[in-house]
Order: sequence, then structure tokens, then C-alpha cells
Amino acid sequence: MSTQQGTHIDSIIGRDTVRVDGPRKVTGLAQYTTDFHFAGMLYAVPVGATIANGRITKLDTATAEKMPGVHAILHRGNIGKIFRSIPGPGFSGICEERRPPFEDDVVRYFGQYIALAVAETFETAKAAADAVRATYATEKPNVELQLVADDEPDEVMTTFGPRKRLDSQRGDPDAAFGSAPVKLDHTYVTPFETHNPLEPHSTTAVWEGQTLTLYESSQGVVNLRSVLAQMFGLPIENVRVITKFVGSGFGSKLWPWTLSPLAAAAARQVGRPVRLVLPRKMMFHAVGHRPRTQQRVRLGATPEGKLISLHHDYIYTRSMLDAHHEDCGEATPFQYSVPNLRVSFGRAKRNIGGGADMRGPGRVPGLYATESAMNELAHQLKMDPVKIRILNEPKIDESSGLPFSSRHLLECFQLGSEKFGWSKRTPAVGSMKRDGLTLGWGMAGCSWIAARFDAAANIQLRDDGTCRVASATQDIGTGTYTILAQLASERTGVPINKVEVELGDTSLPEGPLSGGSIATGSVVNAVFAAADEAIGSLKMIAVSTPGSPFAHRTPDELEFKNGKVFLKNESGANGVPFPDLLQRANLHMATGNGRSAATFGDPKPKFSTQSFGCHFAEVTWQPEIARLRVSRVVTVIDAGKIINTLAGRNQIQGAVVMGVGMALLERTEYDPQNGAPINSSLADYLVAVNADAPAVDVHFLDYPDKEINQVGARGIGEIGLAGIAAAITDAVYHATGVRVRELPIKIEDLLT
Ligand code: MOS
Repeated sequence: MSTQQGTHIDSIIGRDTVRVDGPRKVTGLAQYTTDFHFAGMLYAVPVGATIANGRITKLDTATAEKMPGVHAILHRGNIGKIFRSIPGPGFSGICEERRPPFEDDVVRYFGQYIALAVAETFETAKAAADAVRATYATEKPNVELQLVADDEPDEVMTTFGPRKRLDSQRGDPDAAFGSAPVKLDHTYVTPFETHNPLEPHSTTAVWEGQTLTLYESSQGVVNLRSVLAQMFGLPIENVRVITKFVGSGFGSKLWPWTLSPLAAAAARQVGRPVRLVLPRKMMFHAVGHRPRTQQRVRLGATPEGKLISLHHDYIYTRSMLDAHHEDCGEATPFQYSVPNLRVSFGRAKRNIGGGADMRGPGRVPGLYATESAMNELAHQLKMDPVKIRILNEPKIDESSGLPFSSRHLLECFQLGSEKFGWSKRTPAVGSMKRDGLTLGWGMAGCSWIAARFDAAANIQLRDDGTCRVASATQDIGTGTYTILAQLASERTGVPINKVEVELGDTSLPEGPLSGGSIATGSVVNAVFAAADEAIGSLKMIAVSTPGSPFAHRTPDELEFKNGKVFLKNESGANGVPFPDLLQRANLHMATGNGRSAATFGDPKPKFSTQSFGCHFAEVTWQPEIARLRVSRVVTVIDAGKIINTLAGRNQIQGAVVMGVGMALLERTEYDPQNGAPINSSLADYLVAVNADAPAVDVHFLDYPDKEINQVGARGIGEIGLAGIAAAITDAVYHATGVRVRELPIKIEDLLT
């Protein structure tokens, strides 16, 4: 077996690095959840309620049960015990729909599961599900679009614990706004949106005695395990969750949904493995959505454009039982310098399924509102939107009084302006033309949280010169396999093509959720610590093996670099490759474990840790045929060190394309009569596709943030969707003169 030879390898961190899992994906070897097959496996199809509010008075399963090939029709009367789950410490036991399936006869939203057909084939299960007849006592559902905050106390319970409705306050915002020489008061609305990953939610439950294994497309195997263990009354070690590949999730697969306990309960009942894959239509019912938001923003300013006051009072929808918190005000308290501020929220219950995190939860709708307001204030004052932001740039995080660990937003504006050609902008509406088209230019700033979740990793350095790195995190298509390989390669000197990555399995050391764009930042220190421990073990082996060139040395006298052990002060080029040391000692491997602790939720942080960025957007407008296109976007992101610039640009480009959808296309519509999401297909729920995608030019600043980890890498992904809708809507105003404050912008809005 050849080992790595000689010369120093340049760092693999911070470079374009192709996906290590690419070959597996293009050859079909990558195992998505439904690629795992089991002898005797049955198929389950849920029956969804066809009302959104009321009670089941009768459930007729007789016809379905008699169909050949049907093994069971599960319902409230026969599903068996499923317990509730509760949140545990840190990020464990989190769930956006707490009620176990079939717990009562009450229907609270359209599509709520009321029965489950289990059969030999998918087709039989579908036919049986369709043959189940439910009779209801129906009440009118509330899917009203106008939001008024429910009457609730000042502190309310959310999925993540109690939360004060007064998010943030400083100075005297009411008085300051009252006497401000310049005022702005607008309400911005974002619609219900539904995550539509290409791969639908899928799960397969396999019981062996009292041990449950769940193959599921999940963004968080460790949390899913803790929820399932609680629901089935099992010790945690009796539950294993496996997620090797995910066809994306956008947050819909972040927390468990009721399909998982349903599949597990069915498999328990019939004594066979059971697979449950949601049809696209059901992706709109019980696996989350972005809540609708209605956000009133008031700005008080001097005639020169300096902010005096900022109110951000928002309302969002929630389901009847659960309390996903849509944190629209998360960035508001520190995005700009302003002495008087209030951020507060209210909630409005609706007969719809549980809300959920959807790419950039909270901040994405929130920054759409506040960045739009900043643009409108700039226009009101006839100022350049970039200049008004520069004027209001804070020196510290004014909400906490903490310094930012690293904030280079002004440099983002400068680079973005340059790359976009912003200085050529003429502000008058419709004043810019190219090739017979009217141009509109707009911009906005953005930010996203930077933090770490708890993470653990294991490293093996093996006698054939390969390395294995393992952690129970997931790759949801964002590049986590490659990031783990890069980190292991960087620290051990094993070339990346000899690094094997294992993830997506709760039997591995506990890794972070693939959520909040936090996974990458979380694993760095854990992988490095694991590698260091394995290297420490190698040094012990080097000094303790008879016949080793280091047999009379101590570990402290040794150095490890680029896969070789050598004496300190000597050249690494003459070192001994680690496989030689292992072979000589008759060892298969040296291993190490590493951990890194969470900063997320730290009650006493020393810094405000955030990523920043901005978007410059161009639209083209043809009033004659009412044709609007987003033609060009320049995005600059300040997210510390970018570990993989190729995957990083992909993430931001994808987010910008999603932002085109947010600005112009995406919305879930609920029928006011029966509460059904009526555009519940990929034909009717419009997302931006290739033909809608503008040219996207992504740039990263390079300021490593060592508060987050040793590499200085903050997360990326969600930040690319923050702010983009405000840039596009402002560009639309610049081109058309129409100011739209409710997303998505519709062609009808522009026909004036
Ligand atoms: Mo993301 S919405 O945190 O999966």
C-alpha cells in the first residue's frame, strides 16, 4: 500500500473542493432512505382528514380491511400505546407536533392523519387508504389571512421553551418615534410557504425485539432518536436512526413529524418492517411550513437619515396545539445603530398543520421587512440605500452591549457595489434602460447567526494509510461529507481521497443537527480534537514499539505533520509515515475521540457572533407584456473562513434562486371553505427553477472568526436567502414604480 510521499501539502481548507460523495450520487450508489430494502417489508399510506376543524364521529375501515394484501388499518382504536415526548436538555427531544398520532378524535387541520393503511404493496396500501371512510362533525376552519394577535400573556411557551413577547427594548421608542422629524410606518406581509425538497419525507421502521431502527430522511438523527425513545417508552440505546443521504430538507426534516411514530407503531403491530413515504400532496399537510407573517415596522429618523427609533412588531401564525416560534425580530436589535428600539411579537392560531423552521426561519421574513423599510426610508429621504446603511452601521451589538466577534458589513457593501456597478445607478423610477428593457436595481443587507452545537467525532488512522472520520451528523446536500473529509485531511495529512466519512447514524459519536447553518461550525473543533488524540496515540506507539526509530524517545520529543512522525527540530520530510509505525506494531489503527461544546444558547456570551452580507439585484421589466425577470444578482458574504469555497458558492447561489421564488412565486394557499392547501403539487406551488435563475455572482470575504472554531468558519447557507427578497422588491419598485409590501409580488400588482 503506497503511503503519502514527501512534500508539504497545501492546506485543503479554504479551497474549491469537489464533493467526495459525488461519484456515489451519480452512479446511484448513494443510499437514500427508500434505497434500504428489507425482507418482508410492508408499505404504509396515511389517511388524511378532509376537514380542517371538527371531530371524527365514525371511521369505517371494513372495506379497506377486507382488501387482499392488506395487513392492518391502524386508527385510534388499535394503534397501541404511543407516549408524548418532552424536550430534554440542549437540543434533545425537540418536536414541532407534540401530539402523538391518533391521540384523540379532534381534527385541527386538513390532512391530519386519522388512519394508516398497511399492505403488501404501495398500490394496495394506497387503495386501502382511499377506501377508509370518515364521518365528521365539521366546524368552519380558521385560515383567515388577516392576522390579529391572540390574547396571550407577556410570556408564552414555544417549541424551544418560554419566550417573552417583548423580544428587545431600549431607550423610549414610542416617545422617540413621536417626535422624530422623519417617520415611516409600513406593514410587510410574507405568505405561508411550504418546503418542497425533491425527496419527500420517508421513513422505514424495523423492530428486532425491543429494539427499533428507523431509516429516515432526517436533518437530525440524534434528536429524532430521543423523541422516538420517549414515544415508545424505550431506553435510548434501543433506538437507532440512520440517514445516509437526504434529498434536501430546507428545515422540514429538522424536527420529527408524526409519520415516524406512525411507521414505528405499524411495524410493531404487524411484526414486519414498514415503509412510509409521503406523496407530494401530503408534503403540504403535516410536515411543516413557514408561517405567514405580518410585520409592522416603524422608523424614526433625522432628515440626514440617522435612525432615531425602530419598532418591529410582528405577528405570525401557529397551529392549534403547537408553538413553533418564527423569530422575525432576531436580527433587528443589532443590524443597525439606533438608540430607541422595540421588537415584539404576537401569534395567531389557525387550523393548519404545525409551523416549522424553513430555510432562514425568522430572520428571512424579518429581514425582508426591516430591510424593505430601510430602502423605503432611503427613498423618502432621496438617499442612496447603501449610504443610509453605512450611516447607521453600529460599532457594537447595541442590544447586548457586546462586541461583534467579526463584522465586516461595510466591506460587503463596498465590494458588492463595485462588482455590481452600483455607482452607475440613476435613482428615478424607470430611468435605466438596456436593450429595450427597463432596468430596476435594488439592494439589501443580511445577517445570520453563527454558533456551535455540541459535537463529537471519532478519527481512525489506519495501517493502510487511510483515515476514517465519523460523527452522527447529516449531509442534507450541503456538503457535510466533504467538509468532514477536508477537516480530517487537514489535521492528519491523509489525502482527501483516502479519507472515509461516516455520518447519519446514531450509533456514531453524537453530532450536530443539520440546521441553523450551524453543523459545519460545530464539527471543526471536534474533528481536530479527535485527530489530535489519534496522533497522540500514534506518538505513544512510536516510542513504545520495539525496533521503532523512536524507541528511546518520549512522545513529547515527537512531531506529527502531513501523515508523518518525526523528531522535533528535524525535517518532516524524513519522518516515518504513520502506516509504517502501525504495521511495525501489528496495529490496525490509532483512534481518537473529540468533542466540542455548544455556544448556541450560551447565557453569558463574550461576543455577538453573526455572519453578515448583502445582495445587489437587477430586474428587467417589459411593461408592454408585463414581463418581469430577475436578471442579475451580486451577493457578498462575510462568514469567516469558508472551508469549501465551491460548496459555499453553491449554497449561496441556491439560496439566491430560492429568494427569487420568495420574492415572486412562492405561497401556499388555504381554501377558506375547507382549510385545504389548494396548490399542493409542484405544478401549482411555484418555486424558482432554472429558467427563473438569474446570473448569481457570489463573493466571500475572508476574515476567520476564531470565536467559532479553530479554522474560523461560521456557517453558510441560510444567510443567502436573508435580505434577497427586499433587494428584489426594491429593484421592482425602481423599474416599475410599484411598491409591493406583500410577498410574493404578483403580475397583477404591477399592472397599474
Ligand atoms: Mo434550517 S431551516 O435550520 O434546516
